[in-house]
Amino acid sequence: MKILIMFLLVVLFSSCEENNDMPKYSSPSDHTISKDGAVHKSGLDKPQTNCVSCHGEDLKGGTSGVSCYECHSKKW
Ligand code: HEC
Ligand code: HEC
Repeated sequence: MKILIMFLLVVLFSSCEENNDMPKYSSPSDHTISKDGAVHKSGLDKPQTNCVSCHGEDLKGGTSGVSCYECHSKKW
């Protein structure tokens, strides 16, 4: 029984590690500004000018499918 529990813990632990290594998105190479591991494109201070073309007029995804509000609260 002890061995079984150990085994399950090891499996759990390693699957968590794998998930952390996998980036959630495969972002374009011009997204060079890393914020705690989430890469942003330069000009992030003016999303209405620099990000709407791909992330949508409302910054909720657009053609990129990545919404700013996934990680940020109502900010813009
Ligand atoms: C030319 C199109 C385009 C523009 C312009 C653009 N993005 Fe993106 N962005 C993408 C695509 C495509 C992805 C990845 C989508 C996927 O993998 O599903 C992405 C992903 C992201 C991610 C997720 C990265 C991660 O590691 O989780 C962030 C954050 C982001 N963009 C921020 C920005 C910001 C901020 C701007 C404006 C300054 C911007 N983007 C402008 C196309 C663009
Ligand atoms: C995958 C998660 C994620 C996505 C999606 C994302 N961000 Fe961020 N962003 C972060 C993190 C984490 C930080 C750093 C911590 C903080 O400042 O909140 C950050 C920081 C920022 C900052 C600088 C900090 C500040 O408050 O001034 C700006 C500006 C910004 N993001 C804009 C955007 C815009 C615009 C988009 C959509 C195009 C976007 N982010 C999408 C995770 C994300």
